[in-house]
Amino acid sequence: FATLDELEQAWDLVSDDSPTRRVGAAPREELATVRHPAPMLSLEAVDDEADLRAFDERCRRELDSDRVEYVCEPKYDGLSVALVYEDGSLRIAGTRGDGETGEDVTANVRTIRTVPLVLRDTGASPPSRLVVRGEIYMEIDDFNQLNRRREDAGERPFANPRNAAAGAVRQLDPAVTAERPLRAVVYEAPVCDGCDLGSHHDALDALRRWGLPVDDRHQERADDAESVLAYHERMEKGRDDLAYEIDGIVVKVDDLGERERLGTRQRDPRWAVAYKFPPRRDVTQVADIVAQVGRTGTLTPVARLEPVRIGGVEVSRASLHNLAQIRRKDVRIGDAVEVERAGDVIPYVVRAVPERRDGSEQEFEMPRTCPACGGEVVVSDDLKNARCTNLNCPAQLEERIRHLASRAGLDIEGLGEKRSHQLVEHGLVTWLPDVLTLERDDLQQLPGLAEKSADKLWREIDAARETSLVRVLVALGIPLVGEHVARVLARHHRDLDSLLDADEDDLAAHDEIGPEIARSIHAFFATDENRRAIARMREAGLRPRNELYAPTGAEGPLEDLTFVFTGELERWTRDEVSRLVEDHGGRVASSVSGNTDYVVAGPGGGQKLSQASERDVPVLDEDGFVELLSRKGV
Ligand code: IVH
Repeated sequence: FATLDELEQAWDLVSDDSPTRRVGAAPREELATVRHPAPMLSLEAVDDEADLRAFDERCRRELDSDRVEYVCEPKYDGLSVALVYEDGSLRIAGTRGDGETGEDVTANVRTIRTVPLVLRDTGASPPSRLVVRGEIYMEIDDFNQLNRRREDAGERPFANPRNAAAGAVRQLDPAVTAERPLRAVVYEAPVCDGCDLGSHHDALDALRRWGLPVDDRHQERADDAESVLAYHERMEKGRDDLAYEIDGIVVKVDDLGERERLGTRQRDPRWAVAYKFPPRRDVTQVADIVAQVGRTGTLTPVARLEPVRIGGVEVSRASLHNLAQIRRKDVRIGDAVEVERAGDVIPYVVRAVPERRDGSEQEFEMPRTCPACGGEVVVSDDLKNARCTNLNCPAQLEERIRHLASRAGLDIEGLGEKRSHQLVEHGLVTWLPDVLTLERDDLQQLPGLAEKSADKLWREIDAARETSLVRVLVALGIPLVGEHVARVLARHHRDLDSLLDADEDDLAAHDEIGPEIARSIHAFFATDENRRAIARMREAGLRPRNELYAPTGAEGPLEDLTFVFTGELERWTRDEVSRLVEDHGGRVASSVSGNTDYVVAGPGGGQKLSQASERDVPVLDEDGFVELLSRKGV
């Protein structure tokens, strides 16, 4: 790749279809929108055999014909895209959006190797304009591998291949998309200027010749409802043998002239329908119901099932969510239950089958003490929530470590589920702050962690100390506080101390923070154990900065004044002087702008001084600043 890149540069040989042109576009702030050249229609769904027969009858009636030729295809379960080729080169790739406009994902789709950047030469010149529709998807094996990597890195796994593919296509940074194992399949050509296509089959042939990824293996012709139904049945039986997910079949009229005559409705063509498969279900036995303890101490009842294969995946457990649901569905230990695996990997207990009871079944009771630590368990009145009240519960601890290290938290790569478990198991982490005081030697003791990896993890942890307040707030795992709430808090509170001191009313006064969240935050910071943990983390060097802090309406003698500090001051550290200014109603900014009133410079001040003079912002030395303070009555 590097050699090719060099040669292309040296000889000015870079062509539109070179692999070097797939990557390298810069990350963006947000995706642009594209207007689709032809509306991206959707498909009418038929739910059963009768509907399908009605579709066939309608087509025959309106075309006034005994038999209509159909093409049956899998309904690929991915993200729908339209690709626009002009004079043979890929110009635009857009998501469906509302059908009229979608998101511009051109740079991302260019990284998918099976999408040609330039149409293959067929001897004739390519159409001046070609629009194709297709699906971006991920194969199941690739998806599983990706999820394993994510879990090892402490990231949340994707629920299913479709979500993983959609997330990858809608990335802001094409470099991230390029690392994801995406594939494409195309199945329609709504625009093909200057092409002479008589049928859908012709169109697919043409697309194939241009090098576009057409699925050759699973299309089939059918000329009556019986054959379509047989195809549906065969595909449903065979879907688990496919390398990718399909969620039904699509039936299309083959002849393009007939399509024209049938026309389109508002949002979908009258010449095609989607006939989905029912969700994959099976019946199995509940061997046991156990309570599992999560990060925030919530106990979730989980059914241990007699293993059963559903949709090619062995299912042996399913969450029952909470006691209220168990009672409502009346699921008992020993019951036969119907289990469903929809698009998601996560199985779901649909219902119990009470007809199969023999009297030996037992009702599940929430344990009174935590199965992980023996702490007291409290169940809410509506039965929807059960919690272990012991913060030092080891089960919570593993989850807490994983959460602390997660991408939105302190972002410590390599500290996922497995390592968290080991750290607790080997007694290296007995409460959360221990993570920050782990030594290189400690990590080297862990089985399966080579010296180099231990070293890397140690450096990751070391680097995580210098972080932002938002990340720390997420990392602490305060119930109901995710990234968004953390940002709101950081905008209103300069540092952790200010949050530790805030009362419930202060917190609830911020926009977007309701009474329930305020109560949760206040309760968290009011707990002695948590305050001790925070103090310990600070001793261990955790130093969150907060660039979001922007108090409004602060009162005091420095009201309306914005300061930028540079260089070293004698009397105060940077934190102290910032607090001094803010406590008196002023603002501290990190860079010089049109809103800056004073730059205060100690020895060693650099760039900001020249920026100040460019913008005519007065510069004070430390004594000048002190004088200003006394003039203002601070
Ligand atoms: S044809 C104008 N063919 O299903 C008709 N769609 O539920 C264009 N899909 O939005 C669609 N596999 O994203 C067609 N073989 C296939 C398909 C397919 C999956 C998706 C497509 C569409 C959705 C409708």
